[in-house]
Amino acid sequence: MRDIQDIPQPAFDSELNTVIVELEKLREKRLSGTVPPYVFFQLKEIFQTLESIGSNRIEGNRTTVTEYAEKVITGVSPDTDESMREIVNLDNAIDFLEKKIEPGKAITRSLLSEAHKLIVKDLSLPPDGEGSKNPGAYRQEPVCITGSDVETSQYGLVPAHCDELFDFINAEYATQYHLLVIALAHHRMTVIHPFDNGNGRLVRLLTYAQLLQQGFSVKSGRILNPTAIFCDNRDIYYEKLSEADAWTNTGLLNWCLYVLKGLAREIEKIDNLLDRGYLCTQILVPMLDRSKKNKYITEEEYQILRFITNQSKDMTLRAGDLEQILGVTQSVPRSRIINRALEKKLIQPIEENGRIYTLSFFGNYMFRELTQLLVEKGFVPKSLNAKSD
Ligand SMILES: Nc1ncnc2c1ncn2[C@@H]1O[C@H](COP(=O)(O)OP(=O)(O)OP(=O)(O)O)[C@@H](O)[C@H]1O
Ligand SMILES: [Mg+2]
Repeated sequence: MRDIQDIPQPAFDSELNTVIVELEKLREKRLSGTVPPYVFFQLKEIFQTLESIGSNRIEGNRTTVTEYAEKVITGVSPDTDESMREIVNLDNAIDFLEKKIEPGKAITRSLLSEAHKLIVKDLSLPPDGEGSKNPGAYRQEPVCITGSDVETSQYGLVPAHCDELFDFINAEYATQYHLLVIALAHHRMTVIHPFDNGNGRLVRLLTYAQLLQQGFSVKSGRILNPTAIFCDNRDIYYEKLSEADAWTNTGLLNWCLYVLKGLAREIEKIDNLLDRGYLCTQILVPMLDRSKKNKYITEEEYQILRFITNQSKDMTLRAGDLEQILGVTQSVPRSRIINRALEKKLIQPIEENGRIYTLSFFGNYMFRELTQLLVEKGFVPKSLNAKSD
């Protein structure tokens, strides 16, 4: 067990301690919501992308959630649009980490290098773009953090400081220190600033990686969006990091409180969304109402989608349901209706060659309303929809 001398100790009766206890209760909690997995995983994908937009926006990508939704609907390719490529790169890095990291598994230099390569892949170099001169390799030059006077590691010491950081992250600790280590590692990595560019995006992924390592059920059960903690308000994020830069117990513990309170808030928010009652009344039904009003869907399509959302026990549609929904009893017109909804990407089969369908959130104009609603209901920071910040 690692010596915990270099971890500041929260007081027993402190707010930080209370948050740690709350979060510990949530650590192993599996998906308890009533939203079926084929809907849950689509939502997870949306959140992951919104997270990527958020992490990029901190560093200057100007894509708003609305613009992103339009690009998805109209099929803009990341091959021709660099700001889309930044977002896709982060998505790919998240997927990579989710595949590679199991609870209890070490977070290594090579894992982080691979993630860095994915983040900066095919991006132009600064000042024009957000790429890196040496993807995956530590920097060979001094670097400053814009807007901060913290002294980053001398470049010759970066490998040694990173090794120390990996030791710090991967050591065994008593449970009550795990969450503190996640928060402290984030700050430590920002101070090392190991790469020539992309450190901000990478450090937020490190936090995600550590949550996976610590068994927070992000993969299977919970759509966790740790970046939302930081990108909600960049000024507060930077201010709290500056407090930690003083390296005092108070500064470090304040930083930990900021990170862990944000994490608890995110988990609570997402758990709401996994409740079918909440999801339907607050998000999906308004999405359908607005889509009908804006003529993205016809009355008939609206009835079908309302059935899947509200009436169907497992949020699915079978051809036979069209009798109850629209009074259609013949198989030919039923197939025609279903094929048209599939073509418009309003529904999708839940298994290959299957004849059971569920809602589809991507590739149709309802996606515009969905992303707007997520912003309005506070699931996505409003700053992600402001043109400048
Ligand atoms: N006072 C501070 N102390 C430590 N780290 C800080 C401080 N202020 C900001 N940071 C961190 O530094 C990052 C910004 O630094 P910088 O712009 O050099 O990053 P970068 O390498 O360009 O990363 P990216 O390309 O992803 O933006 C922030 O995202 C944050 O993580
Ligand atoms: Mg940068």
